[in-house]
Amino acid sequence: MKKGLFVICMAALFATSCTQTGKTEEDRFIEDLLSQMTLEEKIGQMNQIHFDKSLDSIKAQVRNGELGSMLNIDPKLINEIQKTAVEESRLGIPLIIGRDIVHGYKTVLPIPLGMAASFDPQLVEKGTHMAATEAREQGITWTFAPMLDISRDARWGRIAESLGEDPYLTSELGVAMVRGFQGDNLSDNDAIAACVKHFVGYGASEGGQDYNSTNIPERLLRNVYLPPFQKTVEAGAATLMTSFNDNDGVPASGNDFLLRTVLRDEWGFDGFVVSDWCSMVEMINHGFAADRKDVARLSANAGLDMEMVSQTYVDYLPELIAENKVSIDVIDNAVRNILRIKYRLGLFENPYVDEVETSTIYSDEHLQTARQAATESAILLKNNGVLPLKENKTVAIIGPMAHAPYDQLGTWSFDGDKNHTVTPLKALQSDEYKHIKYYYEAGLGHSRDESTRNFERAKSIARQADVVVVFVGEEAILSGEAHSLSDINLIGKQSDLLKAIKSTGKPVVMVVMAGRPLTIERDLPYADAVLYNFHPGTMGGLAIMDLLYGKANPSGKLPVTFVREVGQIPMYYNHNNTGRPAQDWITPINDIPLEAPQTSLGNTSFYLDSGKDPLFAFGYGLSYSTFEYSDLNLSSNEVNANDTLTVTATIKNTSDIDGTEVVQLYVRDLVGSITRPVKELKGFQRLALKAGEAQTVSFKLPISELAFYGKDLIKKVEAGQFDIWVAPNSTEGLKGSFTVKE
Ligand code: NOJ
Repeated sequence: MKKGLFVICMAALFATSCTQTGKTEEDRFIEDLLSQMTLEEKIGQMNQIHFDKSLDSIKAQVRNGELGSMLNIDPKLINEIQKTAVEESRLGIPLIIGRDIVHGYKTVLPIPLGMAASFDPQLVEKGTHMAATEAREQGITWTFAPMLDISRDARWGRIAESLGEDPYLTSELGVAMVRGFQGDNLSDNDAIAACVKHFVGYGASEGGQDYNSTNIPERLLRNVYLPPFQKTVEAGAATLMTSFNDNDGVPASGNDFLLRTVLRDEWGFDGFVVSDWCSMVEMINHGFAADRKDVARLSANAGLDMEMVSQTYVDYLPELIAENKVSIDVIDNAVRNILRIKYRLGLFENPYVDEVETSTIYSDEHLQTARQAATESAILLKNNGVLPLKENKTVAIIGPMAHAPYDQLGTWSFDGDKNHTVTPLKALQSDEYKHIKYYYEAGLGHSRDESTRNFERAKSIARQADVVVVFVGEEAILSGEAHSLSDINLIGKQSDLLKAIKSTGKPVVMVVMAGRPLTIERDLPYADAVLYNFHPGTMGGLAIMDLLYGKANPSGKLPVTFVREVGQIPMYYNHNNTGRPAQDWITPINDIPLEAPQTSLGNTSFYLDSGKDPLFAFGYGLSYSTFEYSDLNLSSNEVNANDTLTVTATIKNTSDIDGTEVVQLYVRDLVGSITRPVKELKGFQRLALKAGEAQTVSFKLPISELAFYGKDLIKKVEAGQFDIWVAPNSTEGLKGSFTVKE
């Protein structure tokens, strides 16, 4: 019997007995395999490469047991390479095949920031499961998602991949994504291993410039940046990726405090840790490692199990072991972690991908899920009554994003096929909307286009129509990794196009498709309504038409603060109070008298030119319905740290249109051993209300959820007074208060 087949049989045997005796069978399998491995084979498991050489040389590496994983290879080659691993290597250990399945595989969902705007964990789980199903069907067993980096800076291109600025929302949706990817059992044929990334703090890169240093002190790290990772680890995330940044001088891929103390000792993580692409060797650029050998020593000792691409482990771990600079225990533990996930994925039993008879890719069900996701992800920011549009009126469709099948898919969708994208223009040509009379003129070729030569044509079709929809935004390439911007206004001549169209006197709806919250304050006067979409994916066009024509009612809420001016960044709702918080009155810069005395403006915290408020606050979003909040009630005004507070309120749909409201629960801890945020999200619910209907919404708030790392760096609930809001967004709502007793 071939050795590989022997390993498969052993796995089957262990898996059978596993049901009787539990996890120890998994351990026995791993220990048995580990005991047969040479040092080189162990180190091979810790090595991941991409397709950077000939297939033959990769196969030779696999055959020699020098590889544990490959990433981003052509799915068509997966079985062939896996066959080499299973049937031609000495121990037949299968490879784990990773790929960035970030917001859909072929059927593309809105970018993660858009998914976050839905505030809908069930939908996020469903969409993510859809992605896992399509990917596993192709033999992909591991994704590098979800990205849990708290993002408070819209200049940072990767805000697009994030779930926004809030640790609670990111945790809830991150857990939903892990569940969606991994299902109940990693070995199911519609499950893939998740990878929570980037550990940690990457979203706080200085100036929003990608890969830049971060300076997050431990307390802030624990209170804001680490919770989404802890929650997803507790939910069973199989793997974790280190980040590129150095935090407070220590690059993440060499940070033993994070990878050992926090991740393993405190959280009990039993999956494996992978580096980011070359993030290990980049410690040389950081000036943290002297050379490639030093890199291998630092990362292995820090607890980094698998190296992505840079191959210092295979090159140097043997001699580092011989020199006693890395211990064999470090290697064994890393390999155990990797084999454990391979075992749980069922790879030892079923290493190959079966030809599927009926593919789920672009199935009606998946397209429907993508359409629902795009619908729930859109945020209505302004509406003076022009929306919803009437189907019997003629509409002019203008703007570079009206038909941008590639860009609509957004960043990190390298498998999505633009030929399947339903753009807004295509949606108008579909059976569902072909009865609507429309004119089309893009006006600009793409978002960066500086030429105004087609503006007159655009204005002329606007004049012929009853209403105009102008589609503006960003091409996909302007956000995502290494695509930071220092100016986040609408790019190119898009603002001019909007103004030109508005000058026709026709009602104008501005539809944005972008990878980040853009600074659109200057554009608002030229739009009667604004529907904001973070790149909405394959079905975005139909979802947008559904929303514009009232077949669907907008329900998305902002997962990030929209600033007025880029200079306000970082601006986020859950900030601490200054000692001199801004007052409600702020003198506009042009009203400041000449030679005004130094203290004339009150010496509080705001910008002379852009004030104290954002353009749109976290949690904000309109609907065609109107909702009224009343009757806030707390189950008690005095609670103990181990109680659960029940908070209720009545929400009434006061309009004649059915709608869904995302009801949000916020708290403020008034006095602490350290200063506390002015508000923190602690719950949310999507509430569907028929026209005129009222419902009582009820939140259960375990008081333990108010715990934080205080002055002594110990996580606990501090007694004292709290404010609490049931609210439509982070700036309004019904306010109550309660006391946590000593
Ligand atoms: C680099 C990115 O930072 C990471 O998020 C991604 O998963 C890897 N490349 C693999 O493509």
